[in-house]
Amino acid sequence: GARNSTSLRTPIVAVLGHVDHGKTSLLDKIRGSAVIEGEAGAITQHIGATAVPLDVISSIAGDLVDPDDFDLPGLLFIDTPGHHSFTTLRSRGGALADIAILVVDVNDGFQPQTLEALDILKRSETPFIVAANKIDTVPGWNATEDSPINATYEAQTDRVSSRLDESLYEIIGNLSDEGFSADLYWRVQNFQRNVGVVPVSAMTGEGVPDLLTVMMGLSQRYMKEEMEIDVTGPGVGTVLEVKEEKGFGTTIDTVLYDGTIRADDQLVVGGMNEPIVTDVRALLQPRPLAEIRTESRFEKVDEISAASGIKIAAPELEDAMAGAPVRVVRNRDLDEVIQEVEAEL
Ligand code: GTP
Ligand code: MG
Repeated sequence: GARNSTSLRTPIVAVLGHVDHGKTSLLDKIRGSAVIEGEAGAITQHIGATAVPLDVISSIAGDLVDPDDFDLPGLLFIDTPGHHSFTTLRSRGGALADIAILVVDVNDGFQPQTLEALDILKRSETPFIVAANKIDTVPGWNATEDSPINATYEAQTDRVSSRLDESLYEIIGNLSDEGFSADLYWRVQNFQRNVGVVPVSAMTGEGVPDLLTVMMGLSQRYMKEEMEIDVTGPGVGTVLEVKEEKGFGTTIDTVLYDGTIRADDQLVVGGMNEPIVTDVRALLQPRPLAEIRTESRFEKVDEISAASGIKIAAPELEDAMAGAPVRVVRNRDLDEVIQEVEAEL
């Protein structure tokens, strides 16, 4: 049961993959919203963050996820751009991740930024699964909206399911060429040793229950084994974007990946010339399921703990930079914290 759910850190799930393979669409499906429609030129150009609470995950996953089996409060999804020019943003997103979803279009297969994303995951040793997306585009596909994958397979003719299998085995082969032992997710016993491939459609929602179930299982195990989780210490985060916010001046959209930030905390933020020392004026939290990039209604909160996306309003943020570290000072020595921020720049 949910023994320590309040003290457990929300895992960060980075969504990576080649341009147009469906990262934002997949998150839109999970959010039940349409961020992709608001995107200029329909490509993602910034890192995004969306908090998905456990009850939403279990309602999508249906019978596959029993919320009583999980201690986690939910997942924080990080959307990244797939366009080749955004390499820095992809590595930044990858660096934040506890676990990841590599999205691959089943028809398009492995592409340059798929390989680039794999490299990022390899270097950071981030456990991940592959979402083999757009299965609804297999010719002759018979869609069952939001269905788990085994039921959706049963609804296909033999010809259609063999075509899908061929594409899936090609992806498994590509992963193996890159040194990853992979298989269809229902054949994988140990997700830290083998990469599970989950067939999905961001359009019809098929396989999305399976994807969320595997992510929950993977993160639960990973967070338990890899981390002694203490979310009460001084917060540590990364700036996603520096933005003007009406009534608040310059704000920083931040992913908090460790500890807490309080509305009365002093902060050190990486700046263009030197670290910025400032005091929080307001902590603005996006609503659950809202993408921080596009959210317009924030809730003012007194405290927030990792992992989460939070807009921070504070004086002197004009010189803050995307990608820069954010550190809470609280009871620590200010000079020490400044040095830590300098070391990360
Ligand atoms: P970047 O952020 O620019 O890297 O792209 P992305 O990976 O976020 O892809 P996006 O979600 O923007 O989707 C690209 C296109 O593919 C859009 O036109 C989507 O509607 C379409 N698409 C995404 N997923 C699916 C799917 O499962 N089935 C079908 N048929 N189309 C899809
Ligand atoms: Mg996108």
